[in-house]
Amino acid sequence: MEQQKRYGHFDDQHREYVISDPQTPWPWINYLGNEDFFSLISNTAGGYSFYKDAKFRRITRYRYNNVPMDNGGRYFYIKDGDTVWNPGWKPCKTPLDFYECRHGMSYTRITGKKNGVEASVLFFVPLKKWCEVQKLTLKNESSETKSLKLFSFEEWCLWNAATDMENFQRNFSTGEVEIEGSTIYHKTEYRERRNHYAFYHVNAPIQGFDTDRETFVGLYNEFADPQAVMEGKPRNSHAHGWSPIASHYIEVTLAPGESKDFVFLLGYIENEQEEKFEALQVINKQKAHALIAELDTTEKVDKAFAELCEYWDALLNIYKVRTGNDKLDRMVNIWNQYQCMVTFNFSRSASFFESGVGRGMGFRDSNQDLVGFVHQIPPRARQRIIDIASTQFPDGGCYHQYQPLTKRGNNDIGGGFNDDPCWLIFGTVAYIKETGDFSILDEMVPFDNQPGSEVTLFEHLKISMDHVINNLGPHMLPLIGRADWNDCLNLNCFSWDPNESFQTTENVSEGTKAESLMIAGLFVVTGKDYVALCRKLSEYSNNSEYSEEAVRMQQAVDAMIDAVKKHGWDGEWYLRAYDFYGRKIGSNECEEAKIFIESQGWCTMAEIGAEDGMVAKSLDSCKKYLECEHGMVLNNPAFSKYIYEYGEISSYPEGYKENAGIFCHNNPWVIIGECLAGRGNDAWSHYAKILPSYVEEKYQTLHKVEPYVNCQMVAGKDAFKPGEGKNSWLTGTAAWMWYTVSEFILGIKPDYDGIRIDPCLPETASDYTVQRKFREADYEITIHPNGKQKGVKSITLDGAKIDGTVIPYSPGKHTVDVIL
Ligand code: GLC
Ligand code: GLC
Repeated sequence: MEQQKRYGHFDDQHREYVISDPQTPWPWINYLGNEDFFSLISNTAGGYSFYKDAKFRRITRYRYNNVPMDNGGRYFYIKDGDTVWNPGWKPCKTPLDFYECRHGMSYTRITGKKNGVEASVLFFVPLKKWCEVQKLTLKNESSETKSLKLFSFEEWCLWNAATDMENFQRNFSTGEVEIEGSTIYHKTEYRERRNHYAFYHVNAPIQGFDTDRETFVGLYNEFADPQAVMEGKPRNSHAHGWSPIASHYIEVTLAPGESKDFVFLLGYIENEQEEKFEALQVINKQKAHALIAELDTTEKVDKAFAELCEYWDALLNIYKVRTGNDKLDRMVNIWNQYQCMVTFNFSRSASFFESGVGRGMGFRDSNQDLVGFVHQIPPRARQRIIDIASTQFPDGGCYHQYQPLTKRGNNDIGGGFNDDPCWLIFGTVAYIKETGDFSILDEMVPFDNQPGSEVTLFEHLKISMDHVINNLGPHMLPLIGRADWNDCLNLNCFSWDPNESFQTTENVSEGTKAESLMIAGLFVVTGKDYVALCRKLSEYSNNSEYSEEAVRMQQAVDAMIDAVKKHGWDGEWYLRAYDFYGRKIGSNECEEAKIFIESQGWCTMAEIGAEDGMVAKSLDSCKKYLECEHGMVLNNPAFSKYIYEYGEISSYPEGYKENAGIFCHNNPWVIIGECLAGRGNDAWSHYAKILPSYVEEKYQTLHKVEPYVNCQMVAGKDAFKPGEGKNSWLTGTAAWMWYTVSEFILGIKPDYDGIRIDPCLPETASDYTVQRKFREADYEITIHPNGKQKGVKSITLDGAKIDGTVIPYSPGKHTVDVIL
């Protein structure tokens, strides 16, 4: 293979990805913050910050899809004589003598060197604090005294990131700031309904500042050459309207060998209504002062950073594998789990492909994300389940999305995606199996957030199942509604108007015969889970209502299996759907898109017709028609023209997104199907194709996006440029990759009464050990595959053989030995 240019490498010991060239094929980003205050940061320090909600509480401004790309961020300008440079290369793009960006677990460190000066910035959000720390260390490595002029830079967003980009007739007159010592306060709209402001502080005296963008930059200049910086003279400007910014000016003298730290803090504060002001138009800064005091020295910052690192140590100690294969270990132990936390926090709201204004938290997305995260902080997963269920309607349907700030269902998008309810069972069951906490089922949870409408969470699960049963079509298969998991398979939409959104335009559901095999499979999988849950509940409570419910739902599941076998099988694979008129979709009879991945994934996971060879045939068909060098495409052949009965799916050019892209999210479904069928070689070969650490080596430049995380979509075999990745970071792929490798490939599966061991491996797998903290127990599990792909022969727990494949839960330390 041709030698590829490399932009970086993994540093497993530090759990970092090290970027050594700032001109990556696309901005390679990281996320800061774990709970309330978040930032996105690129390898050149581009990006922005927000509090909880990227739409409603945007703190700093960012311009998406800009020229040049990734313009705007937290920038430090260093003026050394006539040379002006930035530690992260951008925006000045002055060639550096050295550049390095280390993206780690919730922190990023960017280091640049120029003419004997080293500038290193550590960016992170301390635990439980509403601020981003930027610790800048300047070091004189030359033999002469250096007199430097340092300018910091942040640009404020006027809070609502959507109106900030469009309502200029108002925006240009509202901006307000206050300056106090080394702190610049952003208080736009604070005089009226907002009870929050932001600030940018540095723990050193300043010799000047700027708060008005045009005064600092100059109307005809750019971030690359702000006038104040180029001239080495701050203007001490005070913003009134227009575009408020925050820039500190500091004169720094460094003797040879000397280094100095500067702690910059970007903070966010909320005040009670009665305590907003100190005096007329003077904001109450008490909380800001307190926050600053907590982080105003290098020692305090280093301590906060150490706490963050310990926090991540603890999180990543819960599931740890040693296989001897670095590429696998680093994904399982570090990056996959890290990405799961990020998707749990952000859902699909804010990335370099999601603008932060379009989508809140998805009902189905968030339930899936939870599965990647629940082992780490179960209480947060518990709260998430309650929040999600609170956006459900009494008939089991639900809002497709909700806003993280208000937790209310999003009216713009509404409901009607008929797969949504099932996901609540998927998420809840995962939570209970991890924690053993059945009490969550007794929580009283409202409908559509209406006080007084509360029923138990268990009741929500029940109506979720019923929603499918109550919405069956002519083949007794689930009606699809607006769409199922595939948001773009819009079978009741019929749009010829380019101004309409496929997702929200009128849903012609009256008289529809559009049915989904994906929901059918999902219903069987989650239905079996629900039945098992009811059986457990009846076992523990001795309440016969639960066993009756189990029987009732088992019948519905059996009926669904029959319907799929009868009406959902095409001969070599499962059909995808029936359209509005009852015509087959995803059939050999179709002209294009004869086969789709989603129904193969879900119906094989549901093991429908395994006894008749359907599962094996379907999996073989995936290999034959969907698989390519870069993974499995969503459908094949791609649609070459728009089909208005199908909607958005056929709007995409061939090979992209839902039209035959490799939608990484659904590859794991087939991989799990392979695992359940015991086909370890096939499971592994599909898995490795979309495993970032494998992709890293193969095509760093072709793939383009971050090599340390999965992206939502890789261009498929019909695309102009197969293998090119897009939409990195925020994708259900993270949770599904985790679920697949941790539970089905490595085979460590939490269950109600213990841990089920059932690996499915390639024949070449060697012995490996998993350390798994589970509730109050600590297991060290060693697996000896012996060249087998599947089938546990014996399990020894603390020296004694046990029956079956479930290690019964008991607190304390345990050693487990498994022979296949
Ligand atoms: C996007 C959505 C997800 C959907 C998928 C397929 O990733 O976030 O909800 O299932 O696309 O359309
Ligand atoms: C689409 C995307 C899909 C996404 C949907 C909802 O057009 O292709 O992936 O889920 O929009 O935002």
